Formats: sequence, C-alpha cells, structure tokens
Amino acid sequence: MSTLTTTPLATLLDRLFEEAEATSPATSPVFAHIPDGERARLMRSKTDYRDFYERLKDFPLAVSRETGTLLYMLARGCLARTIVEFGTSFGISTLHLAAALRDNGGGRVITTEFEPSKVAQARENLQAGGLSDLVEIRVGDALQTLSVDVPKPVDLLLLDGAKALYPEILSLVESRLRPGAFIVADNAEYSPEYLARVRSPANGYLSTPFGGDVELSMRIG
Ligand SMILES: C[S@@+](CC[C@H](N)C(=O)[O-])C[C@H]1O[C@@H](n2cnc3c(N)ncnc32)[C@H](O)[C@@H]1O
Repeated sequence: MSTLTTTPLATLLDRLFEEAEATSPATSPVFAHIPDGERARLMRSKTDYRDFYERLKDFPLAVSRETGTLLYMLARGCLARTIVEFGTSFGISTLHLAAALRDNGGGRVITTEFEPSKVAQARENLQAGGLSDLVEIRVGDALQTLSVDVPKPVDLLLLDGAKALYPEILSLVESRLRPGAFIVADNAEYSPEYLARVRSPANGYLSTPFGGDVELSMRIG
C-alpha cells in the first residue's frame, strides 16, 4: 500500500483531477479572447509571465494524472528526501511529491507560487491530504524565493512554472542537485533554450522526452 493509493489522498486526488479536467483554460472565455499568436508569445516570455499567470489564477493547470504518478515513482525510486518544485498552483503535483516523501520516511518539498489565492488553495489541499508537515511553500517569484536557502543535496526538481524561466530556475538550483538527481520539466517545448541545455551531456545532464508532456533529465557528474 502507498499513501498515493489510499485514503484520504487517493479520494482527494480523484476529486482534484476531475475539477482540473472540468476547468481547462482552453475552454474558458479568459483565454478565448487572447489570439493564438499572443498566447504562444506569453508562454515564452521572460518578462510578461506575471500578468499571464494572474489571468489564469482560477485554473489548477495541473500536471496530468500520468505525470503525477511518474513524480511519485521517481521520488520513491531515488529515495528522495529533498525536493524542489517551481509552480505550486493548487498543489496537485505537490501532493504526489509529498506522498512519496511520506513513504520514504520523511523529508521536505520546497515549492513556490506567486498567486496568493493559489497558495491558500494549495495549503487547504495539503491539509486535506494530511501532508502539510512535509511541505514548505515559498510565496513569491521563484527567481527570488529559490535564490536563497535551497538545501543540499536536492534529489528531485520539478519545473512547472513559467516555461521561459526554466533555464534561470535550473541555474538557481543546479549547484544543489546531487549526482543522479532527476529534473522533471513539464511542457518544456516552450523553452528551446532549456531543452538545448539539458540535452547536451557537456552541460552535465542526460535527458529524454517522456510521455508526451515531460522532459525527464538526470544530473550526471
Ligand atoms: C502549470 S501551474 C503548476 C501546476 C502544479 N505544478 C500542479 O501540477 O498542480 C504553474 C504555476 O506556476 C506559477 N508561477 C509561474 N511563474 C512563477 C514564478 N516565476 N514564480 C512563482 N510561481 C510562478 C503560476 O501562478 C501557476 O500557478
């Protein structure tokens, strides 16, 4: 048995994924009036991401169920104790990561989010899942919140905030990653700069696209 597949977390995740699937921004008026080209530009912008995500503050924007399971499996398999997450939203991915820490015997997920209403929602979900004690939520822009006090070693890094910032966030955490640490980047196709970096072994990574949504990388050396 695992924390992921038993009550209360399994029931909570079923509900949260159902809600996430029912509230996709793709079908919302919030998104409908943004032309496709502008949407693509915003997804790649290193400067306009704050306004973009403010418009999306009522959407969970969660990882898929499959990616959630992958996160749990990776964190369990590498016996993770310290995990860093960029992009908390409502805490759905965080719940998977914290469940793995619970089943590994303890540890800490450091996660970060700049939308206060999302932080409140994530705290509520973590409380309902009985996992709050394993999670530190840093409220603010990850460029600041992850620039200090990131412990070493980090066993797993999840990149799931503003896509254009993946290279900058990786740079902030890189010196803390242990050899063999996993980096999971969701929808990394929006950051060709990030993909070029982790796909070059000369930069200290092995990397492969995985499952459609994810770039799965490992720190070597
Ligand atoms: C795709 S959602 C994260 C979904 C979450 N990982 C999950 O699966 O449940 C991205 C989140 O990152 C937040 N975000 C984007 N850029 C950020 C930044 N620079 N600093 C902090 N949070 C950021 C957004 O507000 C949004 O809630």
